[in-house]
Amino acid sequence: MFLVLYHSNYGHTERYARWLAEDLEGDVRRIESVKLEDVAAYNSIIFGHSIYAGSYKYGKKIAEIIQAFPDKKYYFFGVNLADSSQIENKKTLTDNVTAAIGSENMDKIQLFFFRGGIDYPRLSFMHRSMMWMMDKMLKMKKDSEQTESDRALIQAYGKKIDFVDRRQIDPLIQAIQEEIHGNS
Ligand SMILES: Cc1cc2nc3c(=O)[nH]c(=O)nc-3n(C[C@H](O)[C@H](O)[C@H](O)COP(=O)(O)O)c2cc1C
Repeated sequence: MFLVLYHSNYGHTERYARWLAEDLEGDVRRIESVKLEDVAAYNSIIFGHSIYAGSYKYGKKIAEIIQAFPDKKYYFFGVNLADSSQIENKKTLTDNVTAAIGSENMDKIQLFFFRGGIDYPRLSFMHRSMMWMMDKMLKMKKDSEQTESDRALIQAYGKKIDFVDRRQIDPLIQAIQEEIHGNS
């Protein structure tokens, strides 16, 4: 039985979480509202977390769940604007997850990254201010020093962009199917 636990501010991560739960015939919940005992009954947990300035608000909670139930299967998907198929970006994204959940948990979880979007007019005052500051700082970097994430953020500043696409969940579904078949 699958449980998808997600954190999403503006719904991009939530859309992926709901599609995964639908395809896997599992349950889906916001990670904020979940207690340790709520996850006990599930065999596999899929964490979905949106990425803000490279960080994960619920990294500690994810680590706590993995430590409490080390024998479950764990998957993680991070959602941001940048394209994770760029090798450098994939490494940065992976390093950021490691910093958030702890290197001791990394061999128990499979990582995936999907592209989200941004709806600038809907952003909170705090997020707009953060984006304004990031945009100013990133534009001061030389072109050759800008990362994939930097470029994606500069491009998205002030706009409404939506990269969410159901097909992006396919590799995660495939990894789960391989795990099931491998164990049967
Ligand atoms: C303040 C702020 C910081 C962000 N930082 C990054 C970032 O470092 N890299 C990136 O690719 N996207 C970044 N994003 C884009 C979000 O990851 C993207 O909007 C994501 O789809 C949000 O998902 P959610 O709607 O589920 O919260 C940032 C967005 C905001 C508003």
